[in-house]
Amino acid sequence: MKQTDIARLGQENTIAMIGKEWMLVTAGTADHFNTMTASWGGLGFLWNKPVAFVFVRPERYTHEFVEANDRLTLAFLGEEGREALKYCGSHSGRDADKMAATGLTPVAVGDDAVTFAQARLTLVGRKLYKDTLRAEAFIDKSCLERWYNDQPGGGLHDVYIVEIEAVYEG
Ligand SMILES: Cc1cc2nc3c(=O)[nH]c(=O)nc-3n(C[C@H](O)[C@H](O)[C@H](O)COP(=O)(O)O)c2cc1C
Repeated sequence: MKQTDIARLGQENTIAMIGKEWMLVTAGTADHFNTMTASWGGLGFLWNKPVAFVFVRPERYTHEFVEANDRLTLAFLGEEGREALKYCGSHSGRDADKMAATGLTPVAVGDDAVTFAQARLTLVGRKLYKDTLRAEAFIDKSCLERWYNDQPGGGLHDVYIVEIEAVYEG
């Protein structure tokens, strides 16, 4: 795994890489972290910084780790990672050992971030901003009904905007 320039992201279809390939959102340190699958989010440019937007429901165990740490990583595993992504998106780290179940190998990135040896691409993000989606702010209420009111399993997402500090490849 080697660090690469942020311009490397220009080779990616970022909508597909989040929405179809999916990603692991991971926060914590090498000896205390959690990871979950996410397929909602975005990459962009805000406050003159390259940023990522991540949406994490407060119920997720990963949420605790995102709250407690300054950084998180977004790891892209390619199609080979599909089974691991399915597992990490359907089990909670509260009651499952995701590393043992998937064979993912954690790799520390600095002191306070973790990615996986299997990742083809990792973005390291430093938290800049957090907010909680509000029901009254939905302009198209069908999104609210479809994803929140009709889905009793989850509350409104917290959105985190993180500065992309580093990109690792391979
Ligand atoms: C394809 C897919 C995409 C998902 N995207 C998100 C997401 O963007 N935000 C979110 O909060 N949960 C998302 N989830 C659900 C979490 O990955 C899931 O609830 C997971 O078990 C949480 O694990 P944790 O409790 O260890 O954090 C997604 C699940 C799947 C399968």
